[in-house]
Amino acid sequence: MATKKKIAVVPGDGIGKEVVPAALDVVRATGAAVEFTEFDWSADRYLKDGTTIPADGFAMLQRDFDAVFVGALGDPRVPTNIHAKEILLGMRFTMDLYANVRPVKLLDESLCPLKGVKPEDVDFVVVRENTEGPYMDAGGVLKKDTPDEVAIQEEFHTVERIIRFAFELAKKQGRKKVLMADKSNAMTISGGLWQKVFKLVAAEYPQIQTQHMYIDALCMHLVRDPKQFDVIVTSNIFGDIVTDLAAALQGGLGMAASGNIHPWKTSMFEPVHGSAPPYAGKNIANPIGAIASAAMMLEHLGFVVEAAKISEAILKAVREKKTTQDIGGTLGTRECAGWTAKNL
Ligand code: NAD
Ligand code: IPM
Ligand code: MN
Repeated sequence: MATKKKIAVVPGDGIGKEVVPAALDVVRATGAAVEFTEFDWSADRYLKDGTTIPADGFAMLQRDFDAVFVGALGDPRVPTNIHAKEILLGMRFTMDLYANVRPVKLLDESLCPLKGVKPEDVDFVVVRENTEGPYMDAGGVLKKDTPDEVAIQEEFHTVERIIRFAFELAKKQGRKKVLMADKSNAMTISGGLWQKVFKLVAAEYPQIQTQHMYIDALCMHLVRDPKQFDVIVTSNIFGDIVTDLAAALQGGLGMAASGNIHPWKTSMFEPVHGSAPPYAGKNIANPIGAIASAAMMLEHLGFVVEAAKISEAILKAVREKKTTQDIGGTLGTRECAGWTAKNL
């Protein structure tokens, strides 16, 4: 018998602690040959002993695991967000998970807040750069705690590998168009590089159409006519913002899935949403974003049939309203996941 794939699980904070076990139940029900090891890296742990992630934590994940599954990190009791930064952004940066892949798919017309938009009108993927931009937190503060305090937040952009990743994803998924979004009309330094590299890489993929939009216009067009989009590649900060908007097109943050990918290193999968503190501990959080992220993880690990079964069961749950209140159902987090697991 083949050895089981090893998955490190970090439920984290708030609703992360509810949607993760719910999603793992669905994975177990597929029978995929995986085993889970849970880590308590979270606000609770940080407040108890000051640990965010152990010294060799990231190296251990890379060495000992095939994938990492995360819930959410963020807790009002840690106002600096330091634990979330060190654990979540720590994984993305230290493990070099440079491609944040966020599929946007409308499963049922009733879930879209836009008039007359059908499921086939919302089916695209945002490829968000995941290790650079202003998230590097480079820069500094001058004249701290004086009335003249100033802050400099620098950005880093290397660009090529994320653009190449987007074209490769388009090719693999049989998608026809890659759109690059930037703000090169105002931010000419980084925007100039995005423009130049996009053209150079695009020339290697003549079978794929290319397009450019400024990020502000992209936000407008996503609402006005989401049908035109196929693959969108953009920077870390723009990708963060635009994927919350895109989540709304598919029924809200509770529905949105993601993979933080390095093509040949241990990758991490998580729902797009955060810890939603007002929802925590009430069994009301929508587990579908987490379940769909688990399906992405299974597919990434080669469990293609199991992943497809999960996607079909999610679709059925949505159509039959065996879902949580945010998308029109009456079930709790556990019950929605339980129904999905039984209907694989
Ligand atoms: P959030 O995603 O946690 O929640 C925003 C709103 O979206 C919620 O109030 C709720 O209305 C809705 N929502 C989110 N997830 C839902 C779900 N599963 N089911 C139903 N509705 C859902 O964003 P926020 O309130 O801005 O952030 C809360 C905390 O989470 C902050 O500390 C933030 O930094 C952190 N955060 C973490 C991640 C992550 O771990 N990847 C992502 C985003 C935010
Ligand atoms: C996300 C989140 C994170 C981000 C936060 C929690 C740092 O919003 O995963 O989209 O900005 O990347
Ligand atoms: Mn975000």
